[in-house]
Amino acid sequence: MEKEIKELINSLKSYMELEAESGIKEYIFPFSVNCRTINDRKPDDLESLKKEVSDCTGCDLYMTRRNSVFGSGDSKARLMFIGEAPGEEEDRQGLPFVGRAGQLLTKIIEAMGLERKDVYIANVLKCRPPNNRMPLPSEILACEENLKKQIEIIKPKVICALGKFASQTLLRTESSITALRGSFKDYFGTKVMPTYHPAYLLRNPQDKRLVWEDMKKVLRELKG
Ligand code: URA
Repeated sequence: MEKEIKELINSLKSYMELEAESGIKEYIFPFSVNCRTINDRKPDDLESLKKEVSDCTGCDLYMTRRNSVFGSGDSKARLMFIGEAPGEEEDRQGLPFVGRAGQLLTKIIEAMGLERKDVYIANVLKCRPPNNRMPLPSEILACEENLKKQIEIIKPKVICALGKFASQTLLRTESSITALRGSFKDYFGTKVMPTYHPAYLLRNPQDKRLVWEDMKKVLRELKG
């Protein structure tokens, strides 16, 4: 038996070395899936969930964060914006979308005739990835139940998913944001409008008009 286990470990090791050579850098083990089941037992109120998130050590990002960034706004908002992950300024202040991209998001919200206090703003990841690198699949998986519970508590009528990561995570798809944006999708019975991320708009201002088209659809849905 011991010999068989050693052989199995050695063949797994060779397989993973081959995969590493071809660029596979990370595996998600069934262990994480078990963690998700445990994570499903989350508090049912926003303040307790926020406290749990501030103490969270579910992935390595707790080691480098200054503050966790849970979310802000109206806990009964009908419209929820979901971004990718906190950046430097968000990590410093413990608030979502307070840097340059955040200022643009504020303008978008105001152009819709709303204020930040009328909506709820959160991110897929609650802690900043170092140097603003992209979120890792394992980090998204570790944090996913926090977002899911947050949405369950707030119960928005419409979710606006900002950018590729939020859209792909919520909708469990690998389709591009360009393909996804512009029409409503479903997240467990809640309408989701994927649109471009404000940080993308800072680099590609010509696409602001597409986001405005998406926001008009969101407003119509909220009024309808
Ligand atoms: N980008 C995000 O996706 N979220 C923030 O909070 C800030 C920038």
